[in-house]
Amino acid sequence: MKTMLCKQYGPPESLVLEDVEPPKAGPGQVVVEVKACGVNFPDVLIIENKYQFKPQLPFAPGGEISGVVKELGEGVTNVAVGDRVLASTGFGGFAEEIAIPAAAAVPIPDSMDFPTAAAFLMTYGTSYYALKDRAQIRPGENLVVLGAAGGVGLAAVELGKALGARVIAAASSEEKLAVCREHGADATIDYSKDGLKDEMKELTGGKGADVVYDPVGGEYSEAAIRATAWEGRFLVIGFAAGDIPRIPLNLTLLKSCQIVGVFWGAFVGREPERNRQNTRELFELFEKGTIKPYVSSSYPLAEAASALHEIGGRRAKGKIVVVP
Ligand SMILES: NC(=O)c1ccc[n+]([C@@H]2O[C@H](COP(=O)([O-])OP(=O)(O)OC[C@H]3O[C@@H](n4cnc5c(N)ncnc54)[C@H](OP(=O)(O)O)[C@@H]3O)[C@@H](O)[C@H]2O)c1
Repeated sequence: MKTMLCKQYGPPESLVLEDVEPPKAGPGQVVVEVKACGVNFPDVLIIENKYQFKPQLPFAPGGEISGVVKELGEGVTNVAVGDRVLASTGFGGFAEEIAIPAAAAVPIPDSMDFPTAAAFLMTYGTSYYALKDRAQIRPGENLVVLGAAGGVGLAAVELGKALGARVIAAASSEEKLAVCREHGADATIDYSKDGLKDEMKELTGGKGADVVYDPVGGEYSEAAIRATAWEGRFLVIGFAAGDIPRIPLNLTLLKSCQIVGVFWGAFVGREPERNRQNTRELFELFEKGTIKPYVSSSYPLAEAASALHEIGGRRAKGKIVVVP
């Protein structure tokens, strides 16, 4: 089978397409024929050895997949051959087949196609856990989403609306903000032109944001905390801009506000039942049409490097998938 391997750390063009032996299902595992693999910012980091999780070389990147169960290992009873499933894999998804723990295989709704399924769990899982569980967002609250046209950002825009918030989307171009409006944003800020802090204050009647969702970091974080409301919650999602900000703690005291860490991958491992419940709720929102995952482009396996460049080059809108 074909797989796109990282044999030495480096930029996307250092990946190599190879033919390798197909995987076998070990005890408690299943082999999935991969139909699509979602591409996420961590894939850009993992091949450069800049991610918190470091697989042994050589490995295929690709942290979430959808596909069809092809083979069952000993003792597997939760899925059957032929089932349509999705899974968070961490890595290994840039391949025609992958062996995963059977417990990680989640049956997908009949109405969900494979590219959507591969683009679903990490972004919506993260944003739902962040807004519902960590921020405990309430109807009518003002939510500001930074990097709002990106993978997790656009999911936060849709889920913010689904949870009853007024959503202000912030991003770096008019084209990106148009996508956010199509996905439900009530107001927008182009932070490449306008001052983020002043615009946030202006759009919230001087009060500031009740909840800030920040997957970007860099210079925007402090500006957004300075425009966070009394008893607001600032969600730390990621640092796509590269810099991890250092925040003066007096800002939190003055506003009685909270800086709240969000690590969805660890939540999945530590609290599997709560995560399964969240996934069920997300599938219900999908089936009702309340959330509409946006897959903006699709690349064949041989062009996986271009998919990674789209994300690393700040050009991606919504989600990108690789289709083996
Ligand atoms: N905490 C968790 O559990 C969790 C889970 C999943 C992902 N994450 C993290 O969330 C972040 C976003 O992931 P994603 O998959 O949504 O990525 P993405 O689709 O590429 O979105 C990231 C956004 O960041 C903004 N950005 C600002 N400077 C950038 C730069 N130099 N390069 C690239 N993007 C830049 C871009 O929006 P503008 O151009 O509009 O500024 C972009 O749309 C990553 O740091 C990822 O590791 C965290």
